[in-house]
Amino acid sequence: MSVEVITAIRQLRQRLSALRRQGRSIGCVPTMGALHAGHGALMERARASSDVVVVTIFVNPLQFDRRDDYERYARTFEADCQFSAEHGADIVFAPSAEEMYPQPMATYVEAPEITQYLCGAFRPGHFRGVATVVAKLFNIVQPDAAYFGEKDAQQLALIQQMTCDLNFPIEIVPVATVREHDGLALSSRNQRLTADERKAAPILFQALSEGRHLIASGERQPAKVKAAALAVIGREPLVKVEYFEAVDERMQPVEKIQDDVRLAVAAWLGPTRLIDNVLCRVA
Ligand code: PAJ
Repeated sequence: MSVEVITAIRQLRQRLSALRRQGRSIGCVPTMGALHAGHGALMERARASSDVVVVTIFVNPLQFDRRDDYERYARTFEADCQFSAEHGADIVFAPSAEEMYPQPMATYVEAPEITQYLCGAFRPGHFRGVATVVAKLFNIVQPDAAYFGEKDAQQLALIQQMTCDLNFPIEIVPVATVREHDGLALSSRNQRLTADERKAAPILFQALSEGRHLIASGERQPAKVKAAALAVIGREPLVKVEYFEAVDERMQPVEKIQDDVRLAVAAWLGPTRLIDNVLCRVA
């Protein structure tokens, strides 16, 4: 099994416009590489509904708020190409930073409301970098559909908002979070955990599940849900919570739980930051 690797924007455009002329639909899976089964689920979903699947692999410097995080980000290109081929990708688009940013950027995409809370409050510039690079990738690939994980719920909401507001003719398809057997959401950053941190990490999903259980049992006060979830996380001294919030679909914290809410958490395990979330349905 092999995949066509393209690094130049010009070449990708030529290749895709030929396929488009043949009437083929294009599905795009944007990634930063270090691919795992979470990314695999996105590719499989794309494979099921598009004629041509383009996986983009680009560690986007614009979205890193910490230089060490950018430098330490896992880069496993050969394995990623193999993985993409095995999960049904036709083309891997892997531009260099110079190809994507040949000159300093002077134009950005921002969605201040969606990015005001949660990760947006703690990672200045992060979502501006995400929205801007995804807008660039959308203009380069011009897919019919693009696939994003619910694992990064605020990112997904941002991309949906941007796509709607800026009239990108692209269907945004959400894909459910893929988890390890113990509940830990798959993430490229999990590789950095020490053995002890890895053992402690599933507490995040346990806390989210506890919160979801309380809401299902009728609890309607976010503060109570939050206190119970934080008590769960408190059992693991290695885990330092950055935020735990109940938010609506626009990623705004809710004062009372009336409609479906998403519980979202970010926490540090040593130098590694993990995020996770669950949707809680309110009958
Ligand atoms: P990255 O972290 O590589 O994630 C790429 C896509 O995979 C995102 O849509 C993310 O939500 C999804 N994903 C990651 N872990 C997942 C899991 N456990 N289950 C389901 N989906 C999962 O997100 C980015 O890259 C970047 O910000 C990007 C959108 C590519 C822009 O640079």
